[in-house]
Amino acid sequence: MKRIISIIIAVLMLALMMSSCAEQPATQIEENTAAPSVTSAPITSAPITAAPTKSVQPAQSAQAPETEPPTPTESEPPTEASEPPTHKSGVLVLYFSATGNTKLLADRIAKLEKADIAEIVPAQPYTAEDLNYHDPSTRASAEQNDPSARPAIAEEISLEGYSAIFLGYPIWWGKAPRILNTFVEANDLTGITVIPFCTSGSSDIGASDDELAALAGSGNWLQGKRFALSVTNEELLSWIGDSLGE
Ligand SMILES: Cc1cc2nc3c(=O)[nH]c(=O)nc-3n(C[C@H](O)[C@H](O)[C@H](O)COP(=O)(O)O)c2cc1C
Repeated sequence: MKRIISIIIAVLMLALMMSSCAEQPATQIEENTAAPSVTSAPITSAPITAAPTKSVQPAQSAQAPETEPPTPTESEPPTEASEPPTHKSGVLVLYFSATGNTKLLADRIAKLEKADIAEIVPAQPYTAEDLNYHDPSTRASAEQNDPSARPAIAEEISLEGYSAIFLGYPIWWGKAPRILNTFVEANDLTGITVIPFCTSGSSDIGASDDELAALAGSGNWLQGKRFALSVTNEELLSWIGDSLGE
């Protein structure tokens, strides 16, 4: 009996040994087949699929902190709201234009300087007949012949927050239109650098800038400049930079 039992045990052990030997090669084969597929995969699909996954995940986790800052910024608006309104550049391009030439130039200056722009609008618009300089009896001619003429401005223009104003106008009979007199006399330009510019048929700016400065009695007036509409952006930029000390 003992012998039978020992034979059975021996057979069982033999069977166990054989089965364990049979499993080992199987695992090795799996590892060996897996290994080549891993080395070939990175060249083709693995890096492509792995890379985006990795970059998306950090991006999401990087975005997560970014979604948190809005909480502190949300608590900031009350401070911002309580601050007085400020102008982006502190520069205003202000112009009067009866037939559109000075407006064209003013628009370009404002765009180049990223400045605010505003128009001096006459309370009573100038008609074509008003501007007929061949007839000395027409409105514009009559105003230019009357040093005390002060044509009314339609709306008050706020200069609050500006440290520099590019002031544009056409030349009328060698001078700034009288509505410019109205503007400079009605506004306190203290602390503001005023840079006059003009358009004309051919006349230079003449003494019009000095005359406006004298009437204003305030403001730091720079020498004015007349531009043809053919002036290049480079020339304008250079003049803007010089005027603002940039
Ligand atoms: C009443 C009047 C007087 C003018 N006087 C002159 C002048 O003395 N010299 C000149 O070169 N151009 C003169 N011009 C032409 C304007 O200065 C020129 O067309 C200017 O670019 C017009 O600007 P605006 O279109 O912005 O009004 C005069 C124009 C008008 C309407």
